[in-house]
Amino acid sequence: MGVSERIGRYIENSSWIRRMFEEGIRLKKLYGNNEVLDFTLGNPDLEAPIEVKEALEELIKNYDPKIHGYMPNAGREDFRTAVAEKVSREQGLKVPPENIIATCGAAGGINIVLKTILDEGEKVLFPSPYFVEYFFYVENHSGIPCPVETNEDFTLNTENFEKLIDSNTRAIILNSPNNPTGQVYSKESIQQLVELLKLKNKDNKRPIYIISDEPYRNIIFENERVPSIMELYEYTFVVSSFSKELSLAGERIGYVAVHPEIDDLDRIMDGLILSNRILGFVNAPNLSQIIVKHCINSKVKVEVYKKRMELLCKILEEVGIEFVKPKGGLFVFPRVPIDDIEFCNLLREELVLAVPGRGFGRKNHIRLAICVDLPIIEKLKNKLERVMKKVR
Ligand SMILES: Cc1ncc(COP(=O)(O)O)c(C=O)c1O
Repeated sequence: MGVSERIGRYIENSSWIRRMFEEGIRLKKLYGNNEVLDFTLGNPDLEAPIEVKEALEELIKNYDPKIHGYMPNAGREDFRTAVAEKVSREQGLKVPPENIIATCGAAGGINIVLKTILDEGEKVLFPSPYFVEYFFYVENHSGIPCPVETNEDFTLNTENFEKLIDSNTRAIILNSPNNPTGQVYSKESIQQLVELLKLKNKDNKRPIYIISDEPYRNIIFENERVPSIMELYEYTFVVSSFSKELSLAGERIGYVAVHPEIDDLDRIMDGLILSNRILGFVNAPNLSQIIVKHCINSKVKVEVYKKRMELLCKILEEVGIEFVKPKGGLFVFPRVPIDDIEFCNLLREELVLAVPGRGFGRKNHIRLAICVDLPIIEKLKNKLERVMKKVR
């Protein structure tokens, strides 16, 4: 009665996530935190790098009580300059500070981009399995979310994109390294998709944009560089944050970087800046911008995540569960031999918490996060073995 039809529907659809979360709390109270193996949360648990503490100390030492006021909606100049240098290096082309906007995380960034580019009823495509919040974000701005099936190994399937792209398609969100699959899209597969978009753009008044959602870019387990989409396509927005690479998820700091050669650049920047304001973010937190500017080239100990991932994959292999080895990110998305909800229920009987794959658009899979210590992962093996015996 009290909520809108849409929010009511969202609450119903996500009630199983809430139930699982509540069940986790109940089990932890009953059996103790260390007895419950919780693989559900992608909350970066590694310490923030020492440079974050140093930045805070410097801030206190030179404290100026006048720094807390409003600022331009696009963010601090020094932050935008530091991010522009980082993005230019990572993307392999020069992106000036004027093309950067400080945002409340990648989540805030995706929302301001969608607000800026979407007309009512336009489609936004994204590979499936997907980050479930994309549905909410697209609908926030009157768009139509359209998942596009990937291949069995979660790589991009251009033909599936081709089937769904029409004159009403305004954007594609690509997330690589991917949540929940850990897949990194190859340069060749992005190139193929870009060729398709260029072809489709010829018949359209407005281009189809790529929103490259990259918060896991630097959580990578192999030495190869995550391909730059900006190098391949001028209608690209890169959206990222410091939630994962600096473990600052609670500080809500990220950015949008706009391709320097995008058509109508000035108006797009005006739109993004206005959207930051009118969506109620106003500007990204000032203290977070100051801190990040100091440690923009630091990152958490990725080798710890890598070790955890290797152990988790070894266990999956040993108990005979199929999976695609993640190349980066904080998750693995194995295929399970029975219905994913039933499998998660059996895991729960062993005090192991995992998320059913259907929540990310693919049944018969589960998502496991590596935001837990190695001893917790070690304990998983026996429990998984018992579950697998039951289902065989
Ligand atoms: C794929 C993906 N995009 C965006 C976000 C939002 O991140 P942020 O904390 O930077 O808003 C997340 C967070 O988990 C994510 O997994």
